[in-house]
Amino acid sequence: MCGIVGYVGEKKAQPILLSCLKKLEYRGYDSCGIAVDNGGIVVYKDALRVEAMAKSLPRLTGKIGIGHTRWATHGGPSKINAHPHVDCSGNIAVVHNGVITNYSELRRELAKEGHKFTSETDTEVIPHLIERYYQGNLEAAVEKALTKVAGSYAIAVLRSGEAKMVVAKKDSPLVIGIGDGENYVASDVSAFLDYTDRAVYIEDGQIGVITKDCVKIADDGNKVAVKEYKILWNAEEAQKSGYEHFMLKEIHEQPKVIRNTLAEYMRITDESNDVKLAGNGPILMLACGTSYHAALVGKYVFEDLLSVPVRVEIASEFNQQRYILGKTLAFAVTQSGETADTLKAMKRVKGEGGRVVAVTNVVGSTSTRIANQTTYTRAGPEISVAATKTFTAQLMVFYWLAISQIKEDMRRRAGLLSELRSLPSKVQQVLDDETTIKEHAKYLSKFENVFFIGRGVNYPVALEGALKLKEVSYIHAEGYAAGEIKHGPFALLGSETPVIAVVSRDNTYESMLTSIKEIKARKSPVIAVSESEDHDVEDLADLLITVPHVDPILSPIINTVSLQLLAYYTALEKGCPIDFPRNLAKSVTVE
Ligand code: M6R
Repeated sequence: MCGIVGYVGEKKAQPILLSCLKKLEYRGYDSCGIAVDNGGIVVYKDALRVEAMAKSLPRLTGKIGIGHTRWATHGGPSKINAHPHVDCSGNIAVVHNGVITNYSELRRELAKEGHKFTSETDTEVIPHLIERYYQGNLEAAVEKALTKVAGSYAIAVLRSGEAKMVVAKKDSPLVIGIGDGENYVASDVSAFLDYTDRAVYIEDGQIGVITKDCVKIADDGNKVAVKEYKILWNAEEAQKSGYEHFMLKEIHEQPKVIRNTLAEYMRITDESNDVKLAGNGPILMLACGTSYHAALVGKYVFEDLLSVPVRVEIASEFNQQRYILGKTLAFAVTQSGETADTLKAMKRVKGEGGRVVAVTNVVGSTSTRIANQTTYTRAGPEISVAATKTFTAQLMVFYWLAISQIKEDMRRRAGLLSELRSLPSKVQQVLDDETTIKEHAKYLSKFENVFFIGRGVNYPVALEGALKLKEVSYIHAEGYAAGEIKHGPFALLGSETPVIAVVSRDNTYESMLTSIKEIKARKSPVIAVSESEDHDVEDLADLLITVPHVDPILSPIINTVSLQLLAYYTALEKGCPIDFPRNLAKSVTVE
């Protein structure tokens, strides 16, 4: 949801802003812009991707500037609606991520005072409010302006002739990058990783003043101590490294991600990362999108291995419910740690006396600051909008937590631990068998509608397979519990609607075979994902994706990797912009 960046230092701001913006394009990419103090504020913006806009820019020499890459909320993608936005004088420039909910009212008020608006955005009221309150002190004007604003925001503000950026946030992410004689600001750390690995997070309601030599943060006028974090990722991890797309690179990184996550968890014994699952009553899991599917797998894993009941809720729906929760233990599963719906749900749980464990991939993200406790996935930066390796890392966290807490059946525990260790090589086998999947993807790319079905722990895998296919290839795909498909969706079956069936050798096996037979009787082509040497499935399915054998409870990892590849190669076949699907953004920071 929109990326904002800012730079102040000794170097020319323009190339740095553009390089930071390119790293943030996954947050929104329908338009972009920069403002540089070049002896007066100059703004360049357009409904273009960063690279295209960069080609049309003159060379600016200014050493301070801000930039924005947009995911439209108010007003379509256009040059006028792109950020930065300026006040009447053109001296104050603002970039914003979030939604100003009372902007219509503010706009009417400001228009009566003579302020002229040029865009349809909610953001444009901010520079005009700052202009209204400016009396020689930019931070004071920003602070006053923000008292009038309702909604969410992360902003960076520049005023001509003042060698500083003023930044502030509420319910939208913002992080400051600390350099030597230069400083940065961005929606997330990946923007400035090429320049620094030192970060300072600013909290809701605080105002930051950033010059080339200094970062000052204040809360309600009181100075706040600046706490620095070291970012564990390196710039190289955020490069494509020879792959055509980040999505493919990230799919291929999964054996390493599994190894890293296991290594990390196996050495952790201290209380801070050891989340006790039994004895808390029912556990709640809150998440959105792919993370929601991971949480659903987590439910099957916790219930099956530990007999701990789990309730999984889509965060945005949970936020509509009104009953009192009490002392619930909740997991908030969010790779970015910035998803607005999940953060709101976390706050609700805490507000009602519950305890929240964040499962996130981003050190210092907002989720970690709301949670009582954080357990990190070790997936490294995930750039592609489609989540792949972070899903696997989330599953690894759930497997580790559950398996390491098996207390009675120690043989099962030992067996599963050894299977966990064998997962990297098994995932590698799936990755090495891409040729078959590529062929099936060519076939699949001809269809407009596809069903994915699974049962038990592979039901969420069907949901995730469908989400992946639809978001990157634009084929309409629905994930269904195999037993449910006959209660309505059967009306849509036929030769034009293939069904992808995820078959696992567990107690769901026989009923999956029955479902496939029923589907075949309705003429839908079936692509089955199943273990090699499964002759029953081989006889029934039209096409096969074979995967190595693992304990069925761990099969979601292996099966999902094959479906990620299927989605990727289908999208490639259709020529889709895989890493940046239309209308989407990596981190959804608005409700
Ligand atoms: O950062 P989060 O895990 O909280 O993100 C949740 C969803 O927005 C995300 O998983 C989304 O569904 C993915 N882009 C799907 O690939």
